[in-house]
Amino acid sequence: MAAAAPAIDPRLGADALSFVNSRHQLYIDGKFTASSNGKTFAVYNPATGEEICQVPEADHVDVDRAVHAARRAFDSGPWPAMLPSKRGQLMQRLAELLEQHTDEFAELESLDNGKPVSVARVADVPLAVDLFRYMSGWSTKTLGSTIPLSAGNDYLSYTVREPIGVVAQIIPWNFPLLMAAWKLGPALATGCTVILKLAEQTPLTGLRLAQLIDQAGFPPGVVNVLTGFGEPCGAPLAAHDRVDKVAFTGSTEVGKLIAKTATGNLKKVTLELGGKSPAIIFPDADMDAAIAGAASAIFFNQGQCCCAGSRLFAHESVFDKVIDGMSNIAAKIKIGPGLDPATELGPLVSEEQFDRVTGFLKSGKDQGAKVNAGGNRSGDRGYFVQPTVLSDVQPGMKVVDEEIFGPVVVAQSFATDADLDRLAAQANDTIYGLAASIWTRDISAAHKMARRIKAGTVWVNCHNVFDAALPFGGYKQSGWGREMGAEVLNNYTEVKAVTVKL
Ligand code: NAI
Ligand code: MG
Repeated sequence: MAAAAPAIDPRLGADALSFVNSRHQLYIDGKFTASSNGKTFAVYNPATGEEICQVPEADHVDVDRAVHAARRAFDSGPWPAMLPSKRGQLMQRLAELLEQHTDEFAELESLDNGKPVSVARVADVPLAVDLFRYMSGWSTKTLGSTIPLSAGNDYLSYTVREPIGVVAQIIPWNFPLLMAAWKLGPALATGCTVILKLAEQTPLTGLRLAQLIDQAGFPPGVVNVLTGFGEPCGAPLAAHDRVDKVAFTGSTEVGKLIAKTATGNLKKVTLELGGKSPAIIFPDADMDAAIAGAASAIFFNQGQCCCAGSRLFAHESVFDKVIDGMSNIAAKIKIGPGLDPATELGPLVSEEQFDRVTGFLKSGKDQGAKVNAGGNRSGDRGYFVQPTVLSDVQPGMKVVDEEIFGPVVVAQSFATDADLDRLAAQANDTIYGLAASIWTRDISAAHKMARRIKAGTVWVNCHNVFDAALPFGGYKQSGWGREMGAEVLNNYTEVKAVTVKL
């Protein structure tokens, strides 16, 4: 274990501080335990780059332990057999506990990820609470159907939906608690058991959530929580032949590796991957709302959103106005440590992400992009990057083609004579298909455009609106399957058709 003295933000509340300073452990089979190799790794504060604590470094041995626990809880434990209403009650209890600890979770998330605590308090934590509440209702509603057969009237056929089994869930660092909730909610509602691997950059809220899961009274082995790195921990989990399904959120690169490795036992796979989502501003839009909305679409969460509005298209007649407006907003955003209540934009999550995003800024400038706002790091400590508006860009440039995952928007104009098909072709000119926003007062243009967009989510006159009831996921290389809503249940259940000759 490293000897570095933890440097902890003085704004952290007593509960969060006491958790950070406690001994962190894996959660396997209903017990808190060290990693079997005894190793730990450091968690860093992205506002300063300093270490805040150590957490266990799980490897394939711990993966095995966790998979066996989840297997037992599924195959012979009480979980799939538990009355659906009772499963729902446990999820309600978890939601209640989480809600009671809203401030603590918001502070931990802010310390660990860098995001503004004011945002975590009104978005990350309440959305996670809501997700558990919404999904708890599905525990009593995973219904099958009765089906009339053309083979004859003397048959009774019906379908049942059964839990898929043991599920490996691998999540990223951009919304650590919320991604845990998106993943756990549908698995628990349908009666699956879970091994959840947290992102190595941001393990704190997931480890705290494990304590609440324990406190809520879920049976041992139903949820197992691991902290560890991608290759030594995530890879053996995704490849494990006693796992029935893997659900992953993260980079497209790792998503493809997981799809390949899953072929070993043909486990089911869902993937929620990258994006390069367009925000399209028509000349008749409410300009103030569109400009503020397009700025928030890219700067929210420091741009570290898979559905960030990272490619802006504005009609040529309003292009300059939009660029000026967004640049003014960018220049005024209050940048600071997440735990400062006045902060609007925090640091990026890690040194690696900081290097990646500043590398994109350099590449954009080198390839001739015009910097209208930002363009550099902010300050000389921590992983802060200025909100940046680039124009004079076109497809073929790295900043246009690739996901940056930082507060950097690339802006292109479209011509007066561009019809909707041509505009849609421009907007769809990406390997991704996660989301899009359309800004217009013309109801018919909005719906026509929505039809033409190849993406799992289309927002009109808004962006980044999430709800537990709304399915979310990607077309093309943005992924496989959907999270949330009724849709996600299909990805956590098998369908069985039963036919009786009467
Ligand atoms: P990543 O895909 O490497 O990490 C996401 C999760 O996958 C983490 O829990 C990590 O430990 C795990 N992982 C890494 N390698 C693995 C492997 N071989 N097998 C199984 N699990 C593995 O993403 P990273 O490196 O943190 O970020 C790189 C880029 O990915 C970002 O710049 C961004 O473009 C994109 N990204 C997209 C996210 C989304 O919400 N769709 C979230 C995070 C990153
Ligand atoms: Mg990676």
